Amino acid sequence: MNIEQKIQSAVIAGLKALYQFEADEKNVQVLKTKKEFEGHYTIVVFPFLRASKKSPETTAQELGEYLKNNEKAVAEFNVIKGFLNLTIASDCWTEMLNDINADKDFGIKHASEDAPTVMIEYSSPNTNKPLHLGHVRNNLLGNALANVMAANGNKVIKTNIVNDRGIHICKSMLAWQKYGNGETPASSGKKGDHLIGDYYVAFDKHYKAEVAELMEKGMSKEEAEAASPLMKEAREMLVKWEAGDPEVRSLWKMMNEWVYEGFDETYKMMGVSFDKIYYESDTYLVGKEKVLEGLEKGLFFKKEDGSVWADLTNEGLDQKLLLRADGTSVYMTQDIGTAKLRFDDYPINKMIYVVGNEQNYHFQVLAILLDRLGFEWGKDLVHFSYGMVELPEGKMKSREGTVVDADDLMEKMIATAKEASSDRLAECTEEEATDIARIVGLGALKYFILKVDATKNMTFNPKESIDFNGNTGPFIQYTYARIRSILRKAAEAGITVPEKLDTGLELSLKEEGLIQMLSEFPSVIAQAGSDYNPSVIANYVYELVKEYNQFYHDFSILREENEELKKFRLMLSQNVGKVISTGMGLLGIEVPERM
Ligand code: ARG
Repeated sequence: MNIEQKIQSAVIAGLKALYQFEADEKNVQVLKTKKEFEGHYTIVVFPFLRASKKSPETTAQELGEYLKNNEKAVAEFNVIKGFLNLTIASDCWTEMLNDINADKDFGIKHASEDAPTVMIEYSSPNTNKPLHLGHVRNNLLGNALANVMAANGNKVIKTNIVNDRGIHICKSMLAWQKYGNGETPASSGKKGDHLIGDYYVAFDKHYKAEVAELMEKGMSKEEAEAASPLMKEAREMLVKWEAGDPEVRSLWKMMNEWVYEGFDETYKMMGVSFDKIYYESDTYLVGKEKVLEGLEKGLFFKKEDGSVWADLTNEGLDQKLLLRADGTSVYMTQDIGTAKLRFDDYPINKMIYVVGNEQNYHFQVLAILLDRLGFEWGKDLVHFSYGMVELPEGKMKSREGTVVDADDLMEKMIATAKEASSDRLAECTEEEATDIARIVGLGALKYFILKVDATKNMTFNPKESIDFNGNTGPFIQYTYARIRSILRKAAEAGITVPEKLDTGLELSLKEEGLIQMLSEFPSVIAQAGSDYNPSVIANYVYELVKEYNQFYHDFSILREENEELKKFRLMLSQNVGKVISTGMGLLGIEVPERM
């Protein structure tokens, strides 16, 4: 039983003893006392007035006295109008710190044998260009959400669907064939995904030139676009690909391999990974089969031209194309096939798709279709829909080549962190300094993105993100490093942090408040999980760090003369460090031993 539950049952007992009132847990809310008042927890007495038949002040006073006399945890109380503020005894806080200290995975619930299986899809790139800033937000959110769901005792499977086929892939292939002169990642020294991205851009450049030329000859824009030989060739290539043409397939294989090598490097640097990767080229035919099956069962219908549709008008939506007249599949088709394969592979209880909010409608439709097709989790699929991310300069545009590249961005963040720290890390080896710059640079990027509510659009401000003051990753990392340094100094001085503290210590409100904050960590993780909201953890860690820094400023630790208090403060610091590290770890952010 934690302290809040203890107080709750004492209040219930008190209401019974004082007013013969049978309250249940829902009536008795134990809140955290507001900063401007004295106390740790506050009980609102208004719901008890009907039973007490007394004023709010008298009711609170009587209940306070009962608690002080009957519940050992309650040391003091004060009444402000209908609010009963309780001060918890120092010994309770010491015991609580002992419990937290004994639990090295404090806050984390491990999955039991029969825990639900949650599959989280994130990243899901196309193989025609490198990952960009939008993918960064996607990957960070997906990875953090997976950690949070696992910390709530779920079995988590991280998955990715790679959209590796289609006209956009053929465009890069064709441009490479025409203008590439056999260039490879090895011959050019370019990362594979960047190389392919360059050819995607090259296709677009040549295509636009063609269209312009045709328009000069008197064609309208539409006519020119339809007549463009390059686009025709790309479409022909796709037909060949679908027919399994060996030459096209082997070119496709080779170029996609380059892209995957590039993606792998990006994922590794970002610190994200997947348990199982699906490829659209393996799933789109399965999707087609499922759609035809549904057609037979009367779930879908065929139009005169032979195209297959789902009628969603009775759901308040429109009609949705599932197979084109020529029998080829669309984006939705592959998602149905991917779902089928995933469902065959894993006992999925909940499916979460981390995909930007521009696809809200797509997932609304997908949920209905999967439900019709009999997928148990179909209707309840979660579209974890996140907002757009921009740089301060303005919107990022794809195709024009002004996209914010994920690799460049990470590299720049790390370089900035390195510059900012060069003096302070003078005693480190070059290798250590490099690793710290990586941790801090990426920490700045990750934290700045993850502290924002995922549903909101945001601007990533590189300069602000790496500021050592304020609600930033480096500020939190710096506090962690400070705690580690204190603990190292203590160890050097031969002071050991005890496993368990004796009670009887008189603690300050600041110290008790810090333990109280630590005690909230499990419910913060629970909330982040039930709301699918990693930012809750980011903001909790920030508040904890602010509070700890005030404590550090106001109290001495190693210079404290009372040996017991010194040990207490070391243990407190150690556990604040542990919670920072666990919290940041859930966000996918490393914390450095020094910085
Ligand atoms: N590759 C797609 C894109 O870049 C996103 C895929 C999202 N996931 C899905 N299951 N549809 O737009």
